[in-house]
Amino acid sequence: MTHDVIVVGSGAAGLTAALALAERLRVLVLAKGELTGGSTAWAQGGIAAVLDAGDTFEDHIRDTMVAGAGLNRLETVEFVIERAPHAIDRLIDLGVPFNTEGEHLHLTREGGHSHRRIVHVADATGWAVQEALLKAAQANPNITLLPGRACIDLITGRHEERYSGSGRVWGVYALDEATGKVEAHTARATVLATGGAGRVYQFSTAPRGATGDGIAMAWRAGARVGNMEMMQFHPTCLYNLEVKNFLITEAVRGEGGRLINPKSGHRYMPDYDERAELAPRDIVARANDSEIKRDGLDFVHLDISHQPPEFVREHFPNIYDKLISLGIDMTKEPIPVVPAQHYTCGGIMIDLAGRTDLPGLYAAGECTESGLHGANRLASNSLLECFVFGEAAAADILARWDSFEAPPPVRAWDESRVTDSDEEVVIKQSWTEIRRFMWNYVGIVRTTKRLERAAHRITMMTAEVEDYYGHFRVSTDLIELRNLLQCADLIVRSALARHESRGLHYTLDHPELLKQALDTVLVP
Ligand code: FAD
Ligand code: SIN
Repeated sequence: MTHDVIVVGSGAAGLTAALALAERLRVLVLAKGELTGGSTAWAQGGIAAVLDAGDTFEDHIRDTMVAGAGLNRLETVEFVIERAPHAIDRLIDLGVPFNTEGEHLHLTREGGHSHRRIVHVADATGWAVQEALLKAAQANPNITLLPGRACIDLITGRHEERYSGSGRVWGVYALDEATGKVEAHTARATVLATGGAGRVYQFSTAPRGATGDGIAMAWRAGARVGNMEMMQFHPTCLYNLEVKNFLITEAVRGEGGRLINPKSGHRYMPDYDERAELAPRDIVARANDSEIKRDGLDFVHLDISHQPPEFVREHFPNIYDKLISLGIDMTKEPIPVVPAQHYTCGGIMIDLAGRTDLPGLYAAGECTESGLHGANRLASNSLLECFVFGEAAAADILARWDSFEAPPPVRAWDESRVTDSDEEVVIKQSWTEIRRFMWNYVGIVRTTKRLERAAHRITMMTAEVEDYYGHFRVSTDLIELRNLLQCADLIVRSALARHESRGLHYTLDHPELLKQALDTVLVP
């Protein structure tokens, strides 16, 4: 089927782009699983924007660059931060019920921010944003939403029935998860808004579908990716044997929560950084990891029980309810927490208009490397990036629309040489294996030896998985496995290429910071 524009992903970035494009064009939004299946619906803390009289764009820009250890592109940082108040206004117009204090929006605080500047909907901001965007998209006659479509690969020149040599991207091949059929969806422009690759790690706060599909698809089609070694670990994921990926928002520390070593009872963050619990995330995650490893602990404690119970319940109603259901009363006792993978700072390289290296292909949100986050994302800058780049990509497509050609006839998906799998166990085994060695060898603290071990395993597994992929019909699990492995490879290659410790990339073999901050750019 042909549409004007295809958007892959129905999170904050994808739906923002779709809504802006739909003012003039017919847009098809494809999403794996449910429309609310991305990280957007899970966001807790909020969205960073300069809205307080005492705050300035310069301060937000400086905080972003400090957290990013100087690897950020200043032009991008300014571009995004100056557009933040407008993005918040648009969300208010769409009906997002941000918390208020008197006549003003209530602003909470998170690590790395020198000012209170996070707008939020209690501790479930992402759900409110996802709902508002989805409601607007569902009501828009120019938008077709197709959930249950797992995109496999981009349609490029080599899929044209008659090779045109234009080098353009013409859409995607997508698996209909209900029928098992693969369809070709074509359009004049394609926007990837597929989120991060967090599930490449054994412990992650990200949802099941965060398997780096867009990054892997763009790479396979010939686009560059950047800074993939910059994987963010959140310091405070709930430690619980049954519930493995529940985030305890950084706003708990912003509102006074303290990190305590359960063995010694010592509040240790002031020993690591003068900003204590409100230091940037990479520093707090490494401190937690170090306390856990040094004392052989299973977890550290996050304690906010010194605040009045009604204050805690009012600020963190969802976290409070979840913890109560697990037998933990955060108004009276500390919460056991561990670091876990949280955010993919690197990704598909884009410019300020959301353009990738490939004509006709745009990208926005967590799947990109826009230059905003550098070596470590500042808390709550991520949803903001989705809104700003979703809109920027749409604006560029609309501005250039008349020069975009209609897609040519493309070849149908070829299933003539594959059969149904008789060995699904390979997929399960490989998923588990990748996530485990990435956690152990490519985690918070790295060494060259461990990275080389991971690289060796990736080489062996790539041969196995490609062989499997070549012989059996695709399923969502297989598509994701192939992409997880591709992303693991990009992460490890990038990590091996950086001979310093900067931001989220910390290696015992190169503990020093080099004078010049350089991006790690991989070219297909
Ligand atoms: P997502 O919202 O992840 O959406 C990805 C979309 O792509 C989904 O619709 C998915 O189905 C689709 N997709 C993926 N692969 C395919 C495929 N192959 N075919 C078809 N569709 C596909 N950031 C903040 O700024 N503030 C916060 O408070 C905050 N809290 C967070 C809390 C948690 C627990 C987590 C995990 C993240 C948090 N983040 C926060 C980060 C932020 O939520 C994400 O970076 C952001 O939502 C990403 O949005 P996105 O639109 O890029 O992708
Ligand atoms: C959180 O609420 O701690 C997550 C915020 C973010 O990832 O930006």
